[in-house]
Amino acid sequence: MLLSRRITARNGALVIVTFFVAILLLHPRIGFLRDETGGLDGLPDSGGAVRKGDKQQSLAVNNDKKVAIIVASSKNDNTSWLFDYFPQWEKNVYMVDNTEAKLKVPKNKGRESMAYLTFMIDNYDNLPDNNLFIHPNRYQWHNDDPDYDGLPVLRHFQFPYLESEGYVNLRCAWSMGCPSEIRPLDEEGEHRENVHAGGDYKKAFLELFPGQPVPERVGVSCCAQFALTKEKIREKKKEEYIRLRNWLLETDLDDSISGRVLEYSWHTCCCPRTTRQAFDAHSKCHAQSREDMAHSDSCTTLLAPLRRTTSPAPVSLTPNTNFVLLVIFGKDAVHCPSAKECYCKVFGLCNLSCDQGSCGLFDLPPYSTLPEGWPFVGWDKKPRNRAVAED
Ligand SMILES: *[C@@H]1O[C@H](CO)[C@@H](O)[C@H](O)[C@H]1NC(C)=O
Ligand SMILES: *[C@@H]1O[C@H](CO)[C@@H](O)[C@H](O)[C@H]1NC(C)=O
Repeated sequence: MLLSRRITARNGALVIVTFFVAILLLHPRIGFLRDETGGLDGLPDSGGAVRKGDKQQSLAVNNDKKVAIIVASSKNDNTSWLFDYFPQWEKNVYMVDNTEAKLKVPKNKGRESMAYLTFMIDNYDNLPDNNLFIHPNRYQWHNDDPDYDGLPVLRHFQFPYLESEGYVNLRCAWSMGCPSEIRPLDEEGEHRENVHAGGDYKKAFLELFPGQPVPERVGVSCCAQFALTKEKIREKKKEEYIRLRNWLLETDLDDSISGRVLEYSWHTCCCPRTTRQAFDAHSKCHAQSREDMAHSDSCTTLLAPLRRTTSPAPVSLTPNTNFVLLVIFGKDAVHCPSAKECYCKVFGLCNLSCDQGSCGLFDLPPYSTLPEGWPFVGWDKKPRNRAVAED
């Protein structure tokens, strides 16, 4: 009796030990069978990310982070591809011309900017970690892809890079936007036939960012599709986004121009809000070129506490310090990394042969509207093959 009870206890212990060893061996997060990529087979799924129930963690997407897509769409756009291919991401589809829509904007003005700002304002206190601000249709010439396909752009997007940068433009090719789309001072008052914000930029800039020095040149690869971390958005107060949106609501500028002023302002702009940010920004700017820029009053006030900081020792910050002001998302007014570096960091495409502004993946299209049936129908209305197989 006593003996058999002991055996039973020993068996029980054995079963328990075996059970825990098995868990240790098999659990994908703890397990010894886990491979270097953190997944079981090393292959990202078709969405470039994780599907529900899928044990694989993509190389590019951190599973724990919440990703949101923010789209400004109108009645004729088709956003179903986002739902088909990225079921795991939160979709915020703003309808700019439908007052019955779930997500709408206060006024259909300023193109995509109105929707982007409305998202930031309405979600300011509860922002997803990583936010992709994009245009609605899968195929549209703004996409940096040989077929103007938005799918590979999103699939290849490198979230760890976004997390290190805070702001990342979703385009690397320089044609349109880089190296200097707008020369606000030289072009002031100019009116070109094609939509170009140069003539109105300076005045708009001074209204948007009063007291900030107007940059001599502004450049960023075009088209207002970019990604932002929650932290980057929250570097500015909610009131700032409300102020920017009020400008859009009130401006007399044509939509195409006001939208474009913001298109060429998102990357740059505004005083760092905290001492730490100010210090980082200051060190960063000093490592870069020392453009002589005037000091705005608001910045002087913000930076005042820095002068009393002793550790880490600040470079002396006087109103004459060559401090490059950071306007919306903290990049230089000309933000044009080399195409090679950009494709590698933003999309993980690191083995391309490139010149400074192109790696041959993007050609400006002859017209801004793609032919009906694209990518299977070409500009000549004849059948076309995709330039790149759909992966
Ligand atoms: C939207 O696009 C999908 C393909 O992504 C297509 O199947 C669907 O018919 C389109 N919807 C409309 C209303 O055109
Ligand atoms: C990189 O490109 C070179 C030449 O273009 C090619 O020989 C090499 O195999 C490529 N490497 C990878 C990892 O694709």
